[in-house]
Amino acid sequence: MKKLFVKTYGCQMNVYDSDRMAETLAPSGYAPADSPAEADMILLNTCHIREKAAEKLFSDLGRLAPLKARKRRQGGKMVVAVAGCVAQAEGAEILRRAKTVDLVVGPQSYHRLPALVEAAENGDRPVETEFPAESKFDRLPDRGRASVSAFLSIQEGCDKFCTFCVVPYTRGAEFSRPVRAVLDEAKDLVVHGARELTLLGQNVNAYHGAAVDGGVWGLGPLMHALGKIPGLLRLRYTTSHPADVDDELIAAHRDEPKLMPFLHLPVQSGSDRVLQDMNRRHRADDYRRIVDRLRAARPDIALSSDFIVGFPGESDDDFAATLALVRGVGFAQAFSFKYSARPGTPAAVRDDQVPEPVKVERLAALQALLGEQQTRFNAGFAGRTVDVLFEKRGRHPGQLAGRSPWLQPVHAAAPDALLGSVATVRVAMVEPNSLAGALPEAAA
Ligand code: 5AD
Ligand code: SF4
Repeated sequence: MKKLFVKTYGCQMNVYDSDRMAETLAPSGYAPADSPAEADMILLNTCHIREKAAEKLFSDLGRLAPLKARKRRQGGKMVVAVAGCVAQAEGAEILRRAKTVDLVVGPQSYHRLPALVEAAENGDRPVETEFPAESKFDRLPDRGRASVSAFLSIQEGCDKFCTFCVVPYTRGAEFSRPVRAVLDEAKDLVVHGARELTLLGQNVNAYHGAAVDGGVWGLGPLMHALGKIPGLLRLRYTTSHPADVDDELIAAHRDEPKLMPFLHLPVQSGSDRVLQDMNRRHRADDYRRIVDRLRAARPDIALSSDFIVGFPGESDDDFAATLALVRGVGFAQAFSFKYSARPGTPAAVRDDQVPEPVKVERLAALQALLGEQQTRFNAGFAGRTVDVLFEKRGRHPGQLAGRSPWLQPVHAAAPDALLGSVATVRVAMVEPNSLAGALPEAAA
């Protein structure tokens, strides 16, 4: 048996892809390795979204070189493969820059991995970054055991072309898997132990899948169909675009009880001028209106978002508008980033780049505000009960860890028998990023 070590960078889409790649390589005799040192193959599933993410790949490759050399001295062989968005963006350039790398494979070609790995084992250095006509999803093998909370990729690529973003270039045009394929995979995941599904897509609510009735379904109808799967307890989806939130999706938040009251809906900026320069296709008030409608449909819905500070041309007033939007909406959690110029994107060549110290200052101010909001959101749970889907054992013996409907990590003393089920937990302690409590029976 050969051993495969996978390292995943970046988004949940990559986490899903990494699992599928490992499954694809199982028939070639690769079983999971616990560490890079014992691996016969190392697969780095990369992210290109910001400069730092891409740089990490090359520093990790530098660290792998001696491991690979040691393996060779011991008479063995180690295949080093680079997959994901850096593979797509840089292709053969990676082979030139990093001699350690044997194989480069882009996100749309994972079904070709067994053949590529075989070529690499025989001394070739293959590069595969085509956008093939057939879908990789139809070529991937069935999965084995699924985790309690599993990802299910339903949509890939993006046609939005936000001016800061590499995704439309690395992941290609928008593509939705047919409804039947999604439902079949969902049922299969549930049969194999999944109780929660997070539907994934770079722009997941642009989903428009061919349905068996000959029509095209958006995410709303898909949620209802998934909601009927017996044994499935919870549904989530990420990442969404405000301009693609439609009436059916908002209605699903009202009518589909399995759809969790938490939504990651990136807004990026609160300034209309910046939003326009970003080609986001909506204004700040449109975002506020969508949030109002979501809250009318599902009053307990909590929101998360992504923000970029220091986009080219962003003035103090623009940034103040972002802070104002955050204050007005109120987020349960959020991610915020300094703008990072990405090669090949329109914003990267603008001559009004914001100086680094200004970005640093704005990021700190935004993160302070978002941090306060997150703390306040979590503090509101002290003494309350929450339904927790227990996913795994906790750090301490006798403890299980899971998530609340609002995606907060929760740990509680609970028996293993509760793994994979939802139990009510009384929150005794609010920690910075998680909740801790006990089952009410235990507390009584
Ligand atoms: N610079 C900084 N942040 C970026 N993001 C995407 N591209 C860039 C960039 N060039 C952020 C956006 C997006 C998240 C996944 O990453 O906020 O929603
Ligand atoms: Fe990138 Fe914009 Fe597409 Fe999101 S919607 S993946 S930010 S281009």
